[in-house]
Amino acid sequence: MENLVTNLDILDKNSEEACETVKTTPDQNTGKGRKLYIESYGCQMNFSDSEIVASILHNEGFDTTSEIEKADLIFLNTCSIREKAEQTVRHRLMHIHGLKKHKPELLVGVLGCMAERLKSKFLEEEKIVDLVAGPDAYRDLPKLIGQVDEGQKAINTFLSRDETYADISPVRLNSNGVTAFVSIMRGCDNMCTFCVVPFTRGRERSRNPQSIVAEAQDLFDKGFKEVTLLGQNVDSYKWSPEENNKMWLEKKGISNTVTFAMLLEMVAQISPSLRVRFSTSHPKDITDDVLYTIAKYENICKYVHLPIQSGSSRILEMMNRGYTREWYLGKIQRIKEILGDDCGISSDMIIGFCTETEEEHQETLSLMDIVQFDFAYMFYYSERPGTLAEKKYKDDIDLPTKTRRLDEVIKKQRAHALQSNLKDVGKVYTVLIEGFSKRSTNDLQGRTTTNKVIVFPKGNHEKGEYVDVFVKECTGGTLIGEVVNKAVNN
Ligand code: SAH
Ligand code: SF4
Ligand code: F3S
Repeated sequence: MENLVTNLDILDKNSEEACETVKTTPDQNTGKGRKLYIESYGCQMNFSDSEIVASILHNEGFDTTSEIEKADLIFLNTCSIREKAEQTVRHRLMHIHGLKKHKPELLVGVLGCMAERLKSKFLEEEKIVDLVAGPDAYRDLPKLIGQVDEGQKAINTFLSRDETYADISPVRLNSNGVTAFVSIMRGCDNMCTFCVVPFTRGRERSRNPQSIVAEAQDLFDKGFKEVTLLGQNVDSYKWSPEENNKMWLEKKGISNTVTFAMLLEMVAQISPSLRVRFSTSHPKDITDDVLYTIAKYENICKYVHLPIQSGSSRILEMMNRGYTREWYLGKIQRIKEILGDDCGISSDMIIGFCTETEEEHQETLSLMDIVQFDFAYMFYYSERPGTLAEKKYKDDIDLPTKTRRLDEVIKKQRAHALQSNLKDVGKVYTVLIEGFSKRSTNDLQGRTTTNKVIVFPKGNHEKGEYVDVFVKECTGGTLIGEVVNKAVNN
């Protein structure tokens, strides 16, 4: 996998962090077929899906390319989570329109959540699009491409109740060879009123644990040192043994349903030098069992991403999140009791949801003061067509108020992140080296178990190694340190 292309961060002006990013495929030269260029937007699950798409098409003889100009097929794997994510795709299609003028045979496909949301409307609205495929229709891509080759437009947006692509071995795109994502479930059965995901990704279904463990083992055998288990709500992972893998589970001493805590343990047992992370946890569903499993294994990272969304119980109720401010604070308390004060905690927040008062906004700020998140993704509310909130409530907080409140939240979060990093100065952390730092090839970077990025002089160390790093100083976003010794878990 040579010629890796740097990620282009599409900066969301209104959030501290870029949340919609684009990745392009690296070159693969089987020399057999047409060249596919694929760009992914949105969450990590979409990026993982692009690896499944690349795998399906690779098996059909398609090559991948990192250069859009060289492509015979351009796929955009899209996101619908906020209006801005969709606008980004529309702009990108305008650019692709320009390319198609010079290369009329170019096949343009739209995949992912926006494809699912808009379905055939996409073909009507965007004339240059030849193919539309929803997240559960990727096995059908070769057939859909065939239809386009015969001069038709092609579409499949059926959502499945059981598709998990469990048997497909993803082609790792843009991989650093050290860390990888493993999808453990698809869809979401929660109906948060603001959220488009249940409509674009369909019903929740868990992937066979045997295939998850096999994928993680295979990654480890190939030299990867960290896997992140992915799902919209990992705590509701649930797998009931069927005849065909009963024996496999029985060998592991399991005869009943596999829960997320059990899955986490199975993956952690692959090797003490394979780090395990997971995302996303849901405050209403995260169990003590999961927390005790994290505590039990050194190689399960001491970090929980636990989106709060709002600090006001009334707003949380309107969002249908299934917990209150107090419940959330109780969960934070449990995390600290079981995993210690040092455990990394991050969050997502939606600012300016329908009817949010100034006092309720203050409740979000005060909750932040209590929890002191190490990191947060912050967004102002973006109404999504078809969601429960769009049907039931008025998007009545004006844009200047939303952006002002968001600015206040971002400022507070920046201060908390800096405070949290300052607390780490003087400590030693075991770090998994992921590669060179963004700024210099004299420095390496990796992450602590608590998910903080740390940069340090290279010395004679290499990516994929664990090192113990003394934290000398920090900025709001990064720790800066130096290696004290090679860590024991190499
Ligand atoms: N499954 C995860 C979140 C997935 S979406 C969870 O339940 O926490 C990622 C984040 O996008 C959400 O946590 C939320 O903060 C944000 N988001 C979702 N819908 C949004 C909307 N309509 N407007 C603004 N932000 C939104
Ligand atoms: Fe959306 Fe809620 Fe499901 Fe997360 S849990 S994906 S916010 S519906
Ligand atoms: Fe976006 Fe779909 Fe993920 S809407 S956040 S790509 S599940």
